Amino acid sequence: MKPQNLSLSQRDRACVWHPYTQMKLAPDSIPIVRGEGVYLYTEDGRKLLDGISSWWVNIHGHAHPKLNEALASQARKLEHVAFAGFTHEPAVELAERLTAILPSGLTRVFYSDNGSTAVEVAIKMAYQYWQNRRDPQRREFVALHHAYHGDTVGAMSAGADSIFTSTFKPLLFPVHRADPPYCYRCPLALERSKCSIDCLQSLQKVLAARDRSVAAVIVEPMLQGAGGMIVWPAEFLSGVRRLCDRYGCLMIADEVLTGFGRTGCMFACEHASISPDIMCLSKALTGGYLPLAVTAATEQIYDAFLDEDRAKTFFHGHSYTANPLACAVALASLELFRSEGALARVQALERHLRARLEPLRENSIVGDVRVIGGVGAIELVHDKANRLAAGYLDHIGPQLAEAFLKRGLFLRPLGNILYFMPPYVITDDQADWALDLIEDVLTDAARSASARLSRL
Ligand SMILES: Cc1ncc(COP(=O)(O)O)c(C=O)c1O
Repeated sequence: MKPQNLSLSQRDRACVWHPYTQMKLAPDSIPIVRGEGVYLYTEDGRKLLDGISSWWVNIHGHAHPKLNEALASQARKLEHVAFAGFTHEPAVELAERLTAILPSGLTRVFYSDNGSTAVEVAIKMAYQYWQNRRDPQRREFVALHHAYHGDTVGAMSAGADSIFTSTFKPLLFPVHRADPPYCYRCPLALERSKCSIDCLQSLQKVLAARDRSVAAVIVEPMLQGAGGMIVWPAEFLSGVRRLCDRYGCLMIADEVLTGFGRTGCMFACEHASISPDIMCLSKALTGGYLPLAVTAATEQIYDAFLDEDRAKTFFHGHSYTANPLACAVALASLELFRSEGALARVQALERHLRARLEPLRENSIVGDVRVIGGVGAIELVHDKANRLAAGYLDHIGPQLAEAFLKRGLFLRPLGNILYFMPPYVITDDQADWALDLIEDVLTDAARSASARLSRL
């Protein structure tokens, strides 16, 4: 049959391979023809509220007129140029604007394309920093359990063992692991109200044991995203900074998810008033428009690469490094923080999410509720007393996603972790519509679960 006689879903099925998708089992992909504000519009005329900000990237809403204009206006001037030997206004201005708002000390901006490359750059930069400093034994990395840093090989090495990484284990380099402050599943079985962030001892022990061998500790500050939407006490983050200082290694903050307001501060490191040595940014950098990433570093790190010896050069780059279209949209997105008060809106959303989600703790399948900034997460369990859950492959994830989609809400639970992370522009009424739906669907799910149990 000729392509013109097929639907878009059928043409897609014939030649496209989608990410994170078992193509043998997955239903046809839904064609999206338009986006506006918090809504996506399907080819068959349905309206879906984008409850995950299209993979956590969108903040000002879809098809924002100011971002559209910035993109079109830059396209009329310069769409792209190689970024070695040349520079351009959007890249320089964006670096100026970022270094003015980043946590203090982060003065150098290295561009790449996405969250994973931002992390690859950070890992390579930290590694070569110590080589260039003639301290070559510092070549090991420490990351946290439940971490997720991306899907390229270096980023997967830093990520926790999971169904995403297990196939590739032989390709990954070894990384030391320490406990995160996952309070609902405290590694020390303590209660947060009584603990003194004792879980930091795990990182302290790793650093003490590997003294002078560690190049860097990499963490997702305040919110470990794909590993379970785990919200941290800020004291843990300041503790990580303190331990990196004590053991003389670098601290890499992966703010690919948290950067640009998602946790209620422009950068999550602000919750603990700390500055990392290296910070990774992407996702919301362009307001959700185009792939662009930044790995920001201190002057001390940058200086270690300055030498007459060319071997000390940072040999890393990508074809689309510092793409002018993406930089221009990122600048317009930063401007919207000022002109549309985006950060204040996230803070209001946080209060709203807290007020609406906390009562869901009463539901028999809700184990924990976690809220930070514009992110509300619900950890679902099948045995509340013993906090038992099936994790990422729990069938409840796809079942709930389908139930929400049928009613016009796009959510993509991480197995038993249901989360709502809409664009910041969501209104109270739109949020209430989605939160009512979440409450209803979870009430139905709890009812079905207890009916199943009573039949056993
Ligand atoms: C903290 C963190 N780092 C890195 C990445 C990888 O980003 P990307 O999907 O753009 O490669 C993600 C993606 O979810 C992330 O949440």
